[in-house]
Formats: sequence, structure tokens, C-alpha cells
Amino acid sequence: MKVLEINGGKRLYGETTVQGAKNSALPCLAASLLGKRCVIHNCPNLTDTYACIKIIKMLGAKAELTGNTAIIESAEELKSYKIDDALMKEMRSSIIFLGAILSRCKQAEISYPGGCCIGARPIDMHLDAFRQMGVEIEESCGRIVCNIPKLKSCRIRLPFPSVGATENIMLLGAASNCEITIENAAKEPEIIDLLSFINSMGGNINMDDCGNIYIKGVEELGGTEYRIIPDRIATLTYLCGIAMCGGYGRLNSARYEHIKIPIEILEDMGCALEKGESYIEIKAPGRLKSPGLISTRPYPMFPTDAQAVFMAMATRSKGRSCFIENIFENRFRHIDELKKMRALVSARGNLAYVKGRRKLKNADMEAKDLRGGAALTVAALSAKGLSTVSGVEYIDRGYENIERSFGDLGAEIIRREM
Ligand code: EPZ
Repeated sequence: MKVLEINGGKRLYGETTVQGAKNSALPCLAASLLGKRCVIHNCPNLTDTYACIKIIKMLGAKAELTGNTAIIESAEELKSYKIDDALMKEMRSSIIFLGAILSRCKQAEISYPGGCCIGARPIDMHLDAFRQMGVEIEESCGRIVCNIPKLKSCRIRLPFPSVGATENIMLLGAASNCEITIENAAKEPEIIDLLSFINSMGGNINMDDCGNIYIKGVEELGGTEYRIIPDRIATLTYLCGIAMCGGYGRLNSARYEHIKIPIEILEDMGCALEKGESYIEIKAPGRLKSPGLISTRPYPMFPTDAQAVFMAMATRSKGRSCFIENIFENRFRHIDELKKMRALVSARGNLAYVKGRRKLKNADMEAKDLRGGAALTVAALSAKGLSTVSGVEYIDRGYENIERSFGDLGAEIIRREM
């Protein structure tokens, strides 16, 4: 079992470079199946990106991730239109390959992606959208069998701006000869990154100011060389680590414009931030003010993926705060672990109440999901003495060497195999 050992209670001082965005890399890797040779720079080394590479190879394309550069050579003919169950379960986001496989093979067979600990994460919006596009879908015994007699142009209105459903529609529509409009599409920076990636391959996808996406399917897509945007959630994680411990840090390759609302909250909590073209510097006082009310919403509102790490900060800030998790139904699993540090947090349904206290107690904790694990790491950095966070495999799904990044910022944190 992998464990992070953290000797906390010190102010942080240092500089680090933020990894490429996990939630851009995954859909862009899937999109590379649609074209010719794709070179993707700034691709983070994560268990989720490794899983993507495995799926791409299993489908019959060539794929290598060397350092932070992925090279995908899609095959003339994919050797399979199925993703085996083990791989579907290995990564929640395997569902975004469905659109790409259908686009290439006109058929696909997959099992349902596992729900995960943060929620059931159904795919009804993905499948409803595909049916509107002319895909015939049979669902039985946990398997989804799709085939496309003929794709058709249509206007799809998503009931919720689902990131994955938006991506899947883009992946299926990009190299079709149809015109697809997505109303109420997701607008996250990762969606824009995928749109730009596909257009760099010769695609024709645009988004208007109201969050509608217009896909003009092209005959075929070519190759590209592309650089993924920085990971906005990793950026916030490292900023919150410095904010919670006090000190100063500089994050290179960080994009302030992707995290405006959380940055405003950090400033309201007492941090001074300098936002450069591609860096963010933060100076943090000894103790923060409470963040007040944080309610997670689709972009550009407060991101659900930063809820846990902001809650960790709130446990040591002055005053009370309230968190409302509106996106996923089970995203408070870090609370019981934070309580081991004597954090004063109580939760009911999708509401959590925090009463900040001056000090947290070092403790042995267990990560139950990716972003919760990062939050426990941040909390442990601020507590004097030795703490441990087990379940590091969750953290490794989304953070490329979290101990190195926090080490750059002056933290005493090492990884152990227990
Ligand atoms: C993406 O997940 C991200 N993952 C998540 O990041 C992120 O939290 C989420 O978007 C919201 O921003 C990747 O990009 C790989 P959704 P996704 O479809 O696409 C419901 C992380 O920590 N829904 O926008 O699965 C769903 O259950 C991860 O990096 C349906 O009901 O999110 C959820 O409640 C966690 N039916 C809400 O919509 C559907 O068909 C948002 O889901 C699809 C979604």
C-alpha cells in the first residue's frame, strides 16, 4: 500500500510547475483516434492517462507516452470496436472513447463504466444525445451495443451541461458529414481545449458566448502537434497548500483566467495573489479568514473538483463556512478523515458546515477519492508533526507526483510503500 508521510506545521516557500490538465489530456487522447499522427505535449503522467494509452493500443492504434509527450498513430482500420470490461472499470472516463470508436467503426460495444465513490455517474445524457444523432443503442445485462445505420444532423439540448456528454458528442460529430448543435453545452476550459485540439486536426467546431457548440462535421481529420492547457485543479491544490500553511509560492504554467472565482475566494480569505500571463504567485498570512459559502456549480462558477481542498483550508480558518455540493451526490468522503485531525465539520445531504479552528492535529488518514486525497494531503501539511495519507493510488490518478510538487514548495513529504 502506498502512503504519503508528511511532516507538517511548516510555512511553505518555493516554486513549482503545474502539470498538464488531466481532464484535457483524456478527451484529447481519445480524439487522436480520429485523425492521423498526433503529438500531444504537456500530457501528465497519471494512472488515468496510462489507462487511456492502454485503451488506444487495444483498439489497434500505436500510442506512446514518453515524458510528457504522447504520440498516437491511429490505424487505417481499428482492430476492435470493443473496450474490455477491465479497462472500462479501470478508469471512469473510458466512456469518452465511445464517441471516437463510433466515429471510426460505426459500431461499438462497451460495458457500463463503473460508477465511482463520488457518485453514480450515469451516462444517460451521452446515450440520449447519441440516439438523437441516429445511433441505435441496445442496453442489456450491463452492456451497451451501438451501431450507426446513418448519422444525422440535429440540435441537441443537454438537460445539464455535462462535461463528458459534451465531449462525446464532439468526438462523434467532428468527423461526420453532419451539422450538430449542442445547446447548454459544458463550457469548462477543458472543453475549449478539446475543441481547439480537434480544430488543429482540421475539424470545424465553434462555441458561442451562450455556451452553444456548433459542430460542422468534416470528411476526415489529419494529424496535429498540440500542447495541453495547465491543470486548473492541480493549480488550486498547490495554491491551497501554501494558503493553508502560510508562506509564499510561485506556480509556473498556471492560467489565472481558468480559476477566477476560486482565486477571488483565496483573496477574500486573506491571500495576496499576483496573476501573470502564465504564472501565479501567492503570499499567505499565518491564518486565513473563512471562505463563507462555497456552492459548486458548472464552469465558470466554483468547480466541484476544488470543493474538498477548499474545505480543508476552511477547517483552519477564522470563522464558520458552509459548502454546498451541487454536482456529485457523494463528494464529502474526506470529512470523516478530516475529523481525525480534530477538524470541526458536520455534513447533512449535500451540505457541510465547518467551524474553523487554529490548529489541526496530525493524524493517519485514508484517501477515499482523488480530490479528497489531495485535500487530506493539504490539511496534513498544515498540522504540526507526522501525518500519513494512505490510498495514494487515488491521488496518482490526477496528480503527477504530488510529493515532488509540494516538495518544490518546501514541504516535508515522502512516499512510502507500506
Ligand atoms: C468531468 O466528469 C470531470 N472528469 C470531473 O473531474 C468533473 O468533476 C466533472 O466533469 C464536473 O466538472 C473528467 O473530465 C475526466 P459531468 P464527468 O458529466 O464528465 C451527471 C476529477 O476529479 N450526469 O459533467 O463525469 C453526473 O452524475 C473528476 O478530475 C448524468 O446524470 O461529469 C454528475 O452528477 C471528478 N448523466 C453531473 O451530471 C450523464 O449522462 C456532472 O457530470 C452525465 C452526467
